[in-house]
Amino acid sequence: MKDISDGLYYVGVDDTEIDLFEGILPVKHGMAYNSYVVCGEKCAVLDSVDAHFGEKWLENVKKTLGERKPDYIVVLHMEPDHSANVFEFTRQYPEAKVVGNNKTFVMLNEFFGEDYADRRVVVKDGDSLDLGGRSLKFIFAPMVHWPEVMTCYDDKSKSLFSADAFGKFGALSYDEKWEDEARRYYFAIVGKYGMQVQALLKKLSLYQIERICPLHGPILSDNLGYYLGLYNKWSNYDPEEKGVLVAYSTVYGHTEKAVDMLCNELEKRGVKARKCNLIRTERTYCIAEAFRYSAIVLATTTYNGEMFPTMREFVDCLTERNFKNRVVGLIENGSWAPFAAKAMQAKLEGCKDLKFVEPYVKIRSALNDESERELKALAEALAAALKS
Ligand code: FEO
Repeated sequence: MKDISDGLYYVGVDDTEIDLFEGILPVKHGMAYNSYVVCGEKCAVLDSVDAHFGEKWLENVKKTLGERKPDYIVVLHMEPDHSANVFEFTRQYPEAKVVGNNKTFVMLNEFFGEDYADRRVVVKDGDSLDLGGRSLKFIFAPMVHWPEVMTCYDDKSKSLFSADAFGKFGALSYDEKWEDEARRYYFAIVGKYGMQVQALLKKLSLYQIERICPLHGPILSDNLGYYLGLYNKWSNYDPEEKGVLVAYSTVYGHTEKAVDMLCNELEKRGVKARKCNLIRTERTYCIAEAFRYSAIVLATTTYNGEMFPTMREFVDCLTERNFKNRVVGLIENGSWAPFAAKAMQAKLEGCKDLKFVEPYVKIRSALNDESERELKALAEALAAALKS
């Protein structure tokens, strides 16, 4: 709970116990569920927090408001990590109006069996909510990350309340650099919706934004061009760095030897190379790295006439997030019928602007002179493709 600027307060909570966000995404350093209070002559509370922290959040709101009562609860996003306590809030503050869009109220009814017909304020894209001395302008952001999502802009503090956008994994009490966990959060959760994020960025370019207040992670106020630039890159599927991610699965270590040799050959040619063991590394870390670099090499064993299961899952994760605009190399291993390269290429066929470089390296059980020659040729081809 803290003052951010005149009439703008933080009332969110830190979750340092959570290990799996959304029940599936590992978080090493917890999660922040942010919520804000904006006061002019009237006061609006923006979003609630996860169900486990309802009491703490309501206490924060009460302490912040003091003698005042909230006039509005603004629901920017209905995912329960933000909306879980809206019903209890409206029970405790029966005079507060509920602000959302048409889709918000459908979801409120689904979650709580209450559509607030007698106390709702339905906003449209571009509408403003006058708080007296300042106003909140609503900028819709459908599918960033659910269809009802909207952001809003406070004209007094020039703050954007960005919903899930610009968020990151990690509690606020844990000090770490923003990029890595923001990138992983973005590609794990919003990565599929690059086009919708682009649409939001276009709308935001019309506003003079001095502060971004997301629903997760720290408030951003310095060098906003940097964060907006990264979001533009990520949502446009542009690589952030020149380099090669070598994503692999290995069973008895022979494919990993090939990966090590390729990384070494790439480094010798001045190309940055990073390897990622898909079996030993949780998938969201690998996905974020795949979108970070300009090239990817997929290396895997053949398994049941297909690629190894972890590789299949990884490639699915890429394609469902519209992976595109990258240089791609393939390495397959197979003791009697190598088939993985064909399977990987077939899965990637629908992705736009992929440039496959040859040779596809074929390993028969273990490296030999021929496959080592192919690895060097692949390193050479990747280095050339990255220079062009
Ligand atoms: Fe943080 Fe889409 O909820």
